[in-house]
Amino acid sequence: MKNITDEGIKNKAKFENIPPLTQEEVKNALDFIIKKIDESLDTFTHKYPAPASINNVYPAIDNIEWTNSFWTGMLWLAYEYTGDEKYRKVAEIQCEDFANRIEKQICVDHHDLGFLYTLSCVAGYKLTGNEKMKETAIKAADKLITRYKEKGQFIQAWGAVDDPKAYRLIIDCYLNVPLLYWASEVTGDKKYYEIGYNHAKTALENVIRDDSSTFHTFYFNPETGAPDHGATAQGYSDDSSWARGQAWGVYGLPLSYIYTKDEKFLDAAEKVTNFFLNRLPEDYVCYWDLIFGDGSGQCRDSSAAAIAVCGMMETMKYINDDYKPVYENACRAIVRSLSENYTTVTTPESNGILLHAVYAMANGVNKGNGVDECNIWGDYYYMEALMRYYNKDWKLYW
Ligand code: GLY
Repeated sequence: MKNITDEGIKNKAKFENIPPLTQEEVKNALDFIIKKIDESLDTFTHKYPAPASINNVYPAIDNIEWTNSFWTGMLWLAYEYTGDEKYRKVAEIQCEDFANRIEKQICVDHHDLGFLYTLSCVAGYKLTGNEKMKETAIKAADKLITRYKEKGQFIQAWGAVDDPKAYRLIIDCYLNVPLLYWASEVTGDKKYYEIGYNHAKTALENVIRDDSSTFHTFYFNPETGAPDHGATAQGYSDDSSWARGQAWGVYGLPLSYIYTKDEKFLDAAEKVTNFFLNRLPEDYVCYWDLIFGDGSGQCRDSSAAAIAVCGMMETMKYINDDYKPVYENACRAIVRSLSENYTTVTTPESNGILLHAVYAMANGVNKGNGVDECNIWGDYYYMEALMRYYNKDWKLYW
């Protein structure tokens, strides 16, 4: 079994004595998000925000991207936060649209069905008990498992399933496997769980490096399933750690722990988190690749910061060691930094929430798209993080 090194926390003082977020801070931040949602609700009822903004404004798109559900997820959060039926109604309209998408197989030949159907139909089912949403999400799980590769035991990321050059997984997929764990729970059919668990174990062995940094993507030999090599698609280089990839690990690993109770995911979650925290700049909001720090002149990725907070808040529920107070302080510092200096309070013309994210830099997939812009998953995870503070008993959609 893989032996991942724990860096520990290098600068402990950086994560000490951060005052708790007050209920007023949290409420003000959430109220601002609600105001922004209200301003866009009509536009984004039958359309959705694009993955990334252009000049901080999201264009409206159809239900064709891997990201559409982040907006629907924000509507479910808004419904929970306010109790106002208007958010539920729009979320329900969108869940019908997600049913149509899987029915007609519109842009579903990829690994991101977990993102898409967890935050739309699974969340909706959990909150409202709507059976059609449940059946829709199970159909999405059925589609997702068609990407499973027995040789290598992983869910293939992008590309045609018969393309040997696309024989690889990506760390992002840790957020897609909860759909499979959930599908096993509601159907009683273990096959989804087995595939999710196998994928999570394969990813742990390969996409996480021995020093607890992460590859973005990892290739396998299509003939034998043997591990081949790590690479990046959206990070700076094959041997750097793309900040959002690391953050997907910070959140995805505890999610696999919750469903499988396999301690190695929790153990890895702490190590991957420590590597992330050790590379935070002065203001606690990471640059888009962890190879960069203050003075680099590079862009931040506020979305990675928000994702990591949600992950740490989840991990904290299951640990009782010296890292717990570190994560508590880190979460406060990151959320405060985001809410004080990264929101669109300063740019009222924007229809987004969090500024200064990066979708994809000039290299890799989606080249030069959404650089130093809002992105819709950053908005979602920031809102989820705030909901976790607002309601300590908030129940996971994942
Ligand atoms: N999952 C794709 C991304 O993080 O950009």
